[in-house]
Amino acid sequence: MWIFGWKGPSGFSASSTAEEVTQGIDGSAFTAIVTGASSGIGVETTRVLALRGVHVVMAVRNADAGQNVKESILKEIPSAKIDVMELDLSSMASVRKFASQYQSSNLPLNLLINNAGVMATPFMLSQDKIELQFATNHLGHFLLTDLLLETMKRTARETNIEGRIVNVSSEGHRVAYSEGIRFDKINDESGYYTWYAYGQSKLANILHAKELARRLKVRNTVQIP
Ligand SMILES: NC(=O)c1ccc[n+]([C@@H]2O[C@H](COP(=O)([O-])OP(=O)(O)OC[C@H]3O[C@@H](n4cnc5c(N)ncnc54)[C@H](OP(=O)(O)O)[C@@H]3O)[C@@H](O)[C@H]2O)c1
Repeated sequence: MWIFGWKGPSGFSASSTAEEVTQGIDGSAFTAIVTGASSGIGVETTRVLALRGVHVVMAVRNADAGQNVKESILKEIPSAKIDVMELDLSSMASVRKFASQYQSSNLPLNLLINNAGVMATPFMLSQDKIELQFATNHLGHFLLTDLLLETMKRTARETNIEGRIVNVSSEGHRVAYSEGIRFDKINDESGYYTWYAYGQSKLANILHAKELARRLKVRNTVQIP
């Protein structure tokens, strides 16, 4: 639980800005993917990473919106290194296409910021016939991470710099269904409640991060904070 203004061991609090926490960091050796970089937290993450010299690949489902964000950041930071690539996390085919294109680009990958999300949507199924919030917020990012993991490990080995995978979750993870994740009822419309389904998907983000951290710490190549 965060308390606004309360500083943790890092010296920062929930009210610290991205510029404050990255002050003095030279990110010019890093390449990052930010999902959902066309609005909200994703835009600010992209802007501040670019400000610190990181090469940012904006992974967005609306390429025009992504291009507009890129141009507005370039006006402020003319030296920014930003690319825009299309990614629809609610479609496994799109996630596979994105990962394949990324691998073909031969770009390194130091930071994967799994930020995109939909919140408290009415019951809908994705193209793959999976409940939309679970499909977008968790499964799309799970698959993306899995497909890009070798690229991250290779980058970490070649540069001797640990990678970072950030799953942007939410306090909403505390408000899931009473069973937590309804593995046997993910796609059931009966009993669907918009906020519980959001909380379920955000809980899955945290469990994914925890298990990845456990597995990757053993290998000591890529860590999750
Ligand atoms: N804002 C908050 O108070 C808050 C609190 C806790 C956690 N969070 C988490 O923070 C993250 C970012 O939230 P935000 O507030 O910045 O929301 P936002 O402004 O609505 O941005 C969400 C981003 O996700 C993208 N997105 C949605 N569905 C997608 C899909 N199928 N494929 C690819 N991209 C998709 C959106 O693209 P379009 O622009 O095309 O719609 C948008 O760029 C989310 O994971 C959210 O759960 C937010």
